[in-house]
Amino acid sequence: MKIDIQKKNLLSFQDQTLVLFIPQKSSSKTSKKEATLNLASLPKEIVNFINSAQKETDFEGKSKETRLFRQTQLGSFENVLLIGLGQEKKISLESLRVAAATAEKSLESNKLKSATFFVDNLTKYVKKATNAAHALTEGVLLSAYQFDKFFSEKPKPHFQKMTFLTQSAPPTTLKKAVTQAQALCECVNFARYLGDMPGNLLTPKDLARETVNAAKGTGLKVTVWNKERIKKEKMGGLYGVSLGSAAEPRFIIMEYKGASKSQKPICFVGKGLTFDSGGISIKPSQSMDEMKYDMCGGAAVIGAMLAIAKLKLKVNAIGLVPASENMPGPLANKPGDILRARNGKTVEVLNTDAEGRLILMDALCYASELKPRAILDAATLTGAIIVALGNSYTGVFSKNEKLVKTIKEAAEHTGENVWHMPLCDDFTQDMKGTHADLSNISSFRGAGSSTAAAFLEQFVDPEIPWAHLDIAGTAWNIANRKNYCPKKGASGVMVRTFVELAQRL
Ligand code: BES
Ligand code: ZN
Ligand code: ZN
Repeated sequence: MKIDIQKKNLLSFQDQTLVLFIPQKSSSKTSKKEATLNLASLPKEIVNFINSAQKETDFEGKSKETRLFRQTQLGSFENVLLIGLGQEKKISLESLRVAAATAEKSLESNKLKSATFFVDNLTKYVKKATNAAHALTEGVLLSAYQFDKFFSEKPKPHFQKMTFLTQSAPPTTLKKAVTQAQALCECVNFARYLGDMPGNLLTPKDLARETVNAAKGTGLKVTVWNKERIKKEKMGGLYGVSLGSAAEPRFIIMEYKGASKSQKPICFVGKGLTFDSGGISIKPSQSMDEMKYDMCGGAAVIGAMLAIAKLKLKVNAIGLVPASENMPGPLANKPGDILRARNGKTVEVLNTDAEGRLILMDALCYASELKPRAILDAATLTGAIIVALGNSYTGVFSKNEKLVKTIKEAAEHTGENVWHMPLCDDFTQDMKGTHADLSNISSFRGAGSSTAAAFLEQFVDPEIPWAHLDIAGTAWNIANRKNYCPKKGASGVMVRTFVELAQRL
């Protein structure tokens, strides 16, 4: 997508299509007839055009509503596309992302090549024109993502050029916001690509190679530990889980230094299970293919670290991704086997399908040794979180209220919904082992996501603020929950929230 910024008079500008984002006027009257559009900050000619068009077509400005007018001859635009923003009182950055994705889909399905997005009437709702341009860019670029690597015939997108038009904002600041959004979306789309790649072509080794290649020229330092090194580093969980597979594990370390040496880093940890068959406690065959997505936490960390480096954020950050397959090969973990984590704690493996926590325990020990400011992990950890929160919310587990507040604020800004879930000592009790310190499954029924979080907690230095994000419900196939995410395929969830958190923590 080519993106351009122009400061010009709207009616003297020329393009194939003009896209206008129109809010509904909030009115106390509920009758449908009373709902009118808010056409403030639009030139008179445009207001007249919309008013007469509205009479004809009943355009109400609802969220995701569209109307395309062809051959309008309005100014020098061939077409005008109206996109609804919903009730003006409720307009947020997320409304703009959704509206921009609606526009992208409409332009694409109407085979339109080039469009101009007018931003000046939006500043009222999102404070600055830069915020509007950033959110609109996100909506378009995230909506345009396609995983077409393996199709013999790749459909070529029609919509390929967008221009942001302002009559008042300084174009250089808009340009900066758009460039930043582009860099960020590239990284979200890269995380999606990693998620969408099939297990046979994205093994732990491939994941590490992709990370090394993507990091070239960004200033990120990437270190990759192989199987021998992982064993030598006493990562008994990661090593043990990988034994059932012919594919070797990797431990990926990404370091970014954007601030002085004395500043403690923020540490991101992501589950990188490139395929989870369940191991000896094998999963049912239905939808097992989806377990190629079990590395989406790792992909989120990789995407976020790349974005932090590309945006040259003034922070120190570390990304850790334990990567493994979980397979039932001859050397696989058997139920009852005991593994020793890097911090010396022992774990009884009562279900080999609860493997995510086993590879994360070592990564969390290592993260704690680095003495970071905060540790945030993302993992497709439990099916139970889907029962609790569906595809709408990522579960947040943390006893640190301040950290939870910051996560909620960051997620509010990025539109990635999070919900604070309980983590308390009852759940810690449930994870005690019979013949080892811990068991990898709960001895009691229910609260599967909380007990998993309580297990992870055992490997984090209690002095370090830590939160665990269970993204099993939000990392892929989120259907109609976000129109700028693929209905089927990886969503890239948490890349943008992690980048936001790197700036807020
Ligand atoms: N990767 C799965 C969790 C998962 C399941 C994510 C379905 C998305 C959809 C994880 O490794 C797992 O299998 N967890 C088990 C834990 C159980 C055995 C305690 C689960 O949730 O069933
Ligand atoms: Zn599993
Ligand atoms: Zn898993």
